[in-house]
Amino acid sequence: MGGFLGFVWRQWTMKPKPLPSTLSLQGKTALITGANSGLGLEAARELISRRISRLILAVRDPSKGEAAKEDILSSSDASCTIEIWPLDHESYASIAAFGQRVRGLDRLDYALLNAGVKMMKYEKSVAGHEMNVQINHLGTSAVSLTILPCLRRTARKINAPTRLTVVSSEGHFWIPFKERHAPHILARMDEPSSFGWQQQRYYTTKLLNVLWTHELAARLRKEEVVVNSVNPGFCYSGLHRHSAGIIGVFLWLFAWTQREGGWCLADAVVGHEGEHGAYLSEQRMTTPSSFVLSKEGEAVQKKVWDETIAVLRDEGKGVDTDIV
Ligand SMILES: NC(=O)c1ccc[n+]([C@@H]2O[C@H](COP(=O)([O-])OP(=O)(O)OC[C@H]3O[C@@H](n4cnc5c(N)ncnc54)[C@H](OP(=O)(O)O)[C@@H]3O)[C@@H](O)[C@H]2O)c1
Repeated sequence: MGGFLGFVWRQWTMKPKPLPSTLSLQGKTALITGANSGLGLEAARELISRRISRLILAVRDPSKGEAAKEDILSSSDASCTIEIWPLDHESYASIAAFGQRVRGLDRLDYALLNAGVKMMKYEKSVAGHEMNVQINHLGTSAVSLTILPCLRRTARKINAPTRLTVVSSEGHFWIPFKERHAPHILARMDEPSSFGWQQQRYYTTKLLNVLWTHELAARLRKEEVVVNSVNPGFCYSGLHRHSAGIIGVFLWLFAWTQREGGWCLADAVVGHEGEHGAYLSEQRMTTPSSFVLSKEGEAVQKKVWDETIAVLRDEGKGVDTDIV
């Protein structure tokens, strides 16, 4: 895993598959963040095709969510209840309100934390963080904490584990992650001089997704909430809109369709029972980068966790950080 030739080989030879046609998700409830477009929308379509009963599309812009719902309904004869809930990773108030609403659900079987951005230029969020860090890491981590009580309650109610899946990327293998040497990693990542070249910062936040997911899994019992991260593969989507030049050639040569990426996400959400704290790629469990598995990676994972909790405690009013 991880090398360029391996990436090319997998993108060319592996063909992602839809969920088994015999699978029925009747009676289950799922939520997907960033569900109005790209891979999140396709994962939604796939869960609906397997008869999920209730699906929450968590979206930054509700009008885009309504358009996505229309699009799903026009391509399926679903009897699923589809709801559009607002969620903006740049706003802790939005995340806290979303979490509060999730607590009111009678059940939540699956959560796919998929929302993300790939910003190629340094930009600051409202809270003052570099934007990839804010949306991909801090936002996703905060959402994971706010939905945990409902996932746990559901697991007790149905006497079976519920699932939390975080979307990462194979790109987490490909970065120097020099920020790890700083006294405070997240503070260093907020400095423009640390931003790095091309997609480096985006990929670094995808590594943070893997580290956060690993640590969260270590703090939870797999009988309660199963937590994994997933690489959907390199796919056509709006994610690449800020990338210029060579990315177009890469997409043309190597990319899977959005549909195939959505299949990989849906597979990670409902498949691989028994895996916990795992990294899924190409629809199977595999190993994350050697850095993640190293002693140093383990120490950095705990440091990133502590720093993230401290940031959320400080800024994320309404986000419960004492939950794990
Ligand atoms: N496509 C690939 O090749 C690839 C490869 C590896 C990993 N991934 C990961 O897959 C996930 C989905 O990406 P995609 O390819 O489907 O791209 P996409 O079509 O751009 O979807 C990203 C989603 O995230 C949402 N989002 C962006 N900023 C947000 C915010 N502040 N708050 C809440 N939601 C926000 C977007 O909403 P708006 O429409 O409102 O912007 C959109 O729904 C991402 O986590 C990405 O890192 C993608």
